[in-house]
Amino acid sequence: MVRQVNRDSGVRARLRSWPGDPAIRHLVLLDSTTTPAPGDVARWVALAFDGGDGGAGGGGASATGAPARAIRTGAVFPRAAEAFLEAGFREVDRLTLLERDLVDIDDLRRRGRDRDRDRRGPGPGARRGVLRTVRLRSGDLATAAEIDRSSFAAGWSNDVDSLRDIASATPQARLRLVTRPAGGSSGGARAHGRPSHGTRSPRREALGFSITGRAGTTAYLQRLAVRPSARRAGAGRLLVDDALGWAVRRGATRALVNTGAGNDAALELYRSSGFRPLDEPLVVLELDRPR
Ligand SMILES: CC(C)(COP(=O)(O)OP(=O)(O)OC[C@H]1O[C@@H](n2cnc3c(N)ncnc32)[C@H](O)[C@@H]1OP(=O)(O)O)[C@@H](O)C(=O)NCCC(=O)NCCS
Repeated sequence: MVRQVNRDSGVRARLRSWPGDPAIRHLVLLDSTTTPAPGDVARWVALAFDGGDGGAGGGGASATGAPARAIRTGAVFPRAAEAFLEAGFREVDRLTLLERDLVDIDDLRRRGRDRDRDRRGPGPGARRGVLRTVRLRSGDLATAAEIDRSSFAAGWSNDVDSLRDIASATPQARLRLVTRPAGGSSGGARAHGRPSHGTRSPRREALGFSITGRAGTTAYLQRLAVRPSARRAGAGRLLVDDALGWAVRRGATRALVNTGAGNDAALELYRSSGFRPLDEPLVVLELDRPR
């Protein structure tokens, strides 16, 4: 179920089923800088639970027919959270928002050169040379969803539809897989390959993926995951570098990313890629259906 909720206040939201749990409605503000009024939240709650007064018909049931058990917001700024808290929502997750200036990109170029040297190298960095990013096609979304499932706690991962939604949240998006030649040690990774000049190219296995969006001069690292068995080998860094390089080529002057406040691996990856945490956190809020 996906509904565009478009009200007079100008604050627009989208309501859909939560990936993997159709009884939870996911309410996403279409513009994360807007601040809903209590009246907006009351209407969205009515729409999600009763199908009432949302302008889109309904009955409070998802495409699978499951009645709504709870409503969960996307990541919102604290000032946008106020109206939700007033309506009885509670905080269920807190995220750190990080920013990186893309105006000075010398270090990005330097990193690219270092990687090229590693590729030729001997030494530990040489293992990164076998990693490569390739375009993530529509047919690869199931693999990406499987990697996402293995990377995030139950209830917080994406399926193919929600990955598509993430990719279409910004006017432009780049979707990449990070791969290595099949037969590596990751066990169970699905081979990824496609015909080239009438023959099959050497098959590579997908280890991770990224979705990066751009709107105006801001790039958003929307989703990034590396399968657990392939971590600490440079795949995450390669995806971040790829995302930032693309963003710069497309004219972005800053990049934003958010991640769980306790996600030390991701925070360290972003910090060491030049991101700095912003003071304001983001929060995710949830409301159970009233009994
Ligand atoms: C975060 C994640 C993408 C990192 O992928 P990865 O392939 O292991 O990362 P890399 O090997 O490229 O590591 C790059 C740097 O990140 C940091 N890092 C990565 N994992 C770390 C960990 N477990 N602890 C501390 N630092 C870590 C290090 O600085 C590392 O550099 P180093 O290996 O030279 O020390 C991966 O752990 C993951 O998929 N986690 C679950 C999903 C997730 O949290 N996604 C991001 C938030 S949306």
